[in-house]
Amino acid sequence: MEGDIMRVSIIGGTGNQGKGLALRLGKAGYQILLGSRSMEKAIHAANEIKEKNPDINIEGLDNFQAADKGDVIILTIPFRSIDEIMEGLHRIVRGKVVVDTSVALIPGKPPTTERIPEGSVAQKIQELVGGETQVVSAFHTISAYLLQDLDKELSGDTLVAGDSPEAKEIVMALAEKIGLRPLDAGPLRVSSTLEDLTSLLIGMNIRFKKKSIGISFSNI
Ligand SMILES: NC(=O)c1ccc[n+]([C@@H]2O[C@H](COP(=O)([O-])OP(=O)(O)OC[C@H]3O[C@@H](n4cnc5c(N)ncnc54)[C@H](OP(=O)(O)O)[C@@H]3O)[C@@H](O)[C@H]2O)c1
Repeated sequence: MEGDIMRVSIIGGTGNQGKGLALRLGKAGYQILLGSRSMEKAIHAANEIKEKNPDINIEGLDNFQAADKGDVIILTIPFRSIDEIMEGLHRIVRGKVVVDTSVALIPGKPPTTERIPEGSVAQKIQELVGGETQVVSAFHTISAYLLQDLDKELSGDTLVAGDSPEAKEIVMALAEKIGLRPLDAGPLRVSSTLEDLTSLLIGMNIRFKKKSIGISFSNI
């Protein structure tokens, strides 16, 4: 951490979900390291955000530099790219908190979710990074559309799953700072349920002609 400001790296931060989280977490006061496979693309995306939001502390870097500089590493990349990207990143993220938002979507109307041999995408990532790194699964039910629309306040719940209570606390604090109610969903092995919710919500958005349906649990 630099001073007492937590540095949040977003791997694949030029995409819809990555840019949305960068905006919201940047507005909440975190230092954002926006990553891309292309340094140029990252700088362009970070500058675009900075121009519209001069109060956000954001820097565009390649994914490796972004991961190296961050305290918490958020993955907003397509499922298909995970093996390739984690091969280069697993040493760099050792000992850090890695937040997985990704879903193995099978496109369709409605989309469905691919079965992952490791149990879920988050468990697959945990196997790839090893036990010294804590993977936390979160932010699957928050639409990129809503994240990027700063005129709309975030509300509702986000389920957070992971095997380290300390790592989950860190991620729950991030979620709370951007206006969500984080709920501890249990160990990482429940992540397949969290990941399935994304395809369920995309299908509901199609049926209800909406763009940002989320979830809220009652009687907690
Ligand atoms: N969109 C949503 O509302 C939403 C909601 C919940 C969860 N998610 C999950 O979040 C993840 C990202 O979704 P998205 O909608 O933001 O996707 P996206 O707009 O396609 O962006 C993903 C980013 O990943 C990077 N990327 C693409 N192919 C790659 C590869 N082969 N290797 C490494 N990086 C690659 C790209 O960045 P560079 O080209 O700059 O490297 C791209 O900007 C997905 O797993 C999705 O399931 C999305």
